[in-house]
Amino acid sequence: MIRNIDISNAMTIQTGKIFNKLPKPPEFVEGIRRAPKRSFTLSQQETEIALKNALRYIPEKWHKKLAPEFIHELLTTGRIYGYRFRPKGRIKGHPIDKYKGNCIEGQAFQVMIDNNLDFDIALYPYELVTYGETGQVCQNWMQYRLIKKYLEVLTNNQTLVMESGHPLGLFKSSPDAPRVIITNALMVGYFDDQENWHRAAALGVANYGQMTAGGWMYIGPQGIVHGTYSTILNAGRKKLHIPADKDLAGYLFVSSGLGGMSGAQGKSVEIANGVGIVAEVDYSRISARHKQGWISRITNNPAEAFREAKEYQAKKRRLAIAFYGNIVDLLEYAVDANIKIDLLSDQTSCHAAYDGGYCPQGLTFEERTELLDTDHLRFKKYVDKSLRHHYELVKKLVDRGTYFFDYGNSFLKAVFDAGVKEICKNGIDPADGFVFPSYVEDIMGPLLFDYGYGPFRWVCLSGKKEDLLETDKAAMKCIEPNRRFQDRDNYIWIRDADKHNLVVGTKARILYQDALGRMKIALKFNEMIRRGEIGPVMLGRDHHDTGGTDSPFRETANIKDGSNIMAEMATQCFAGNVARGMSLVALHNGGGVGVGKAINGGFGLVLDGSQRVDRIIERAIPWDVMGGIARRAWARNDNSIETAIKYNKTREGTDHITLPFIPNEKLVKDLVSKVFEIQK
Ligand SMILES: NC(=O)c1ccc[n+]([C@@H]2O[C@H](COP(=O)([O-])OP(=O)(O)OC[C@H]3O[C@@H](n4cnc5c(N)ncnc54)[C@H](O)[C@@H]3O)[C@@H](O)[C@H]2O)c1
Repeated sequence: MIRNIDISNAMTIQTGKIFNKLPKPPEFVEGIRRAPKRSFTLSQQETEIALKNALRYIPEKWHKKLAPEFIHELLTTGRIYGYRFRPKGRIKGHPIDKYKGNCIEGQAFQVMIDNNLDFDIALYPYELVTYGETGQVCQNWMQYRLIKKYLEVLTNNQTLVMESGHPLGLFKSSPDAPRVIITNALMVGYFDDQENWHRAAALGVANYGQMTAGGWMYIGPQGIVHGTYSTILNAGRKKLHIPADKDLAGYLFVSSGLGGMSGAQGKSVEIANGVGIVAEVDYSRISARHKQGWISRITNNPAEAFREAKEYQAKKRRLAIAFYGNIVDLLEYAVDANIKIDLLSDQTSCHAAYDGGYCPQGLTFEERTELLDTDHLRFKKYVDKSLRHHYELVKKLVDRGTYFFDYGNSFLKAVFDAGVKEICKNGIDPADGFVFPSYVEDIMGPLLFDYGYGPFRWVCLSGKKEDLLETDKAAMKCIEPNRRFQDRDNYIWIRDADKHNLVVGTKARILYQDALGRMKIALKFNEMIRRGEIGPVMLGRDHHDTGGTDSPFRETANIKDGSNIMAEMATQCFAGNVARGMSLVALHNGGGVGVGKAINGGFGLVLDGSQRVDRIIERAIPWDVMGGIARRAWARNDNSIETAIKYNKTREGTDHITLPFIPNEKLVKDLVSKVFEIQK
């Protein structure tokens, strides 16, 4: 019979000590957002397992006291978070030298984890949710404490293994191996669905890492602003034929939503020098964005919104207007008054349209909340009617020359679910896609990801503003603005980044860059650290990138050779980054589109000024992006083929990408149609 005393003695790193004293019961600061209850569906036997799973972190002497507390958490929140073990007060990413550690990476990861859980950053900080409704750093506060302990003792010859938030242990490796390898919510294919994930999460064995929540690389809303800026600017280039050296000055962008991600739209359109009107039904969201300076005007009158927009367009001045009301009312006015909208999108939470994500026309936000609670069926009917009308208005505007794109919020799918079959290309079902494009399929995919441009980012671990300014300047010098219009956009972004006051939490910066651009900047930063000009830096990226994510629903939506149901690019990217010695490597199931619909991964690299890190930069950073380019090129994506051809030349003798021969379209079509004729 195994005794707990033997277990305690066998833990040579005294993790038991963390739990030797029982912290006081939890206190919750008023006004901090709390996660909604995740529904409780476990059977009696599963509930026993969930309880035992949570208690296994804790010495036996506390089991009697904690068991009822944990059961109460499970029944009332749907999870066992172990609230009592959360450090009291606000958690915050401090300067790196405030953390204990045997290696710089161990200290750096503690900064990143704490930043992901900051009240100012995290969506539901008490439930360890950083963003995206369910994206957690780890599953519970016992894991948090253990992870912190392991990171304090981690050495250059060990790797911390993380499985769905659980620190499995420290294992011998080498200075050239990652210091931490993370996986989140990876499930066996047969069980890889929402229901089983939900059960596994309630049992305490699965963590939904989203992307940078569980990968410890989230840097607050700044990341989304750059992505939105690039998306709308490139929509303008592609569809409005805006020349390479111009921006959105004089053009009108209309959309909806000022929430978590959608809230970036106002700021982004102003940075792109255009005029934007964003409809929002929840006034608290509008006022938060207004206070933040991400919205410049508020009105509940559509005529006033369009009048002011027109004035600013004529003067080619920037302006972000919040329309307090329903997007459908705003578009109805635009159609009736024959107003010209250049770019149109939608960022209501249509991925959860019937759960409150989409407020139907005819109901205020408050009425929608009440109806949702009292009569779900009637609410659903309202949603369907509103979505059908919404679609009719979009169609009319598109017929008059507006460019509409789906912003990855499942708007088109929601319209289909509301009964509109003609929204499907084949007029029957979404199998062949929709009549309107999505933002990755039409814009981000071909114009950014296919070249390797993606959300590269860094955190100045010293916490000093001066360091961030120095890195901004250095990165700007690495960009050749006249090479491509994307470079010019990125140059302007980094030149003005500080002016736009985008930092929330740690001193972080996002900058879309291609493979060699990222490598150049990384080497430059490492040299600056070596010379003592700045403190250490943590490099990384969003998983939503060229090679980081396989998802036919988003990131790989513009891959058309049939391989977009495969998840090998993201997996190879992860393995390749492990092999090349990135400091932190992560692989997750899910991300923005849900369990089973994406496999995504990311990395973190701690720059310490050493030659060792120079070598990692040279071998790992290009790989991280070019694996994605190689796959996109093999799928016959023109811009990736062009990028790969250049890469093969510049890196001859080092890297080599296999390129596809392109058959004559007519040859293929004629032959296949003949074969099918014969079969008929
Ligand atoms: N911005 C991005 O980079 C990005 C990328 C991929 C997907 N998305 C998708 O965009 C959607 C929005 O994300 P979020 O984090 O902002 O969600 P959110 O729920 O925080 O915000 C959506 C907002 O829309 C408002 N709204 C709902 N119905 C409305 C209506 N009819 N008229 C006007 N306002 C209405 C809501 O009040 C809410 O504030 C999600 O579906 C998300 O998956 C965004």
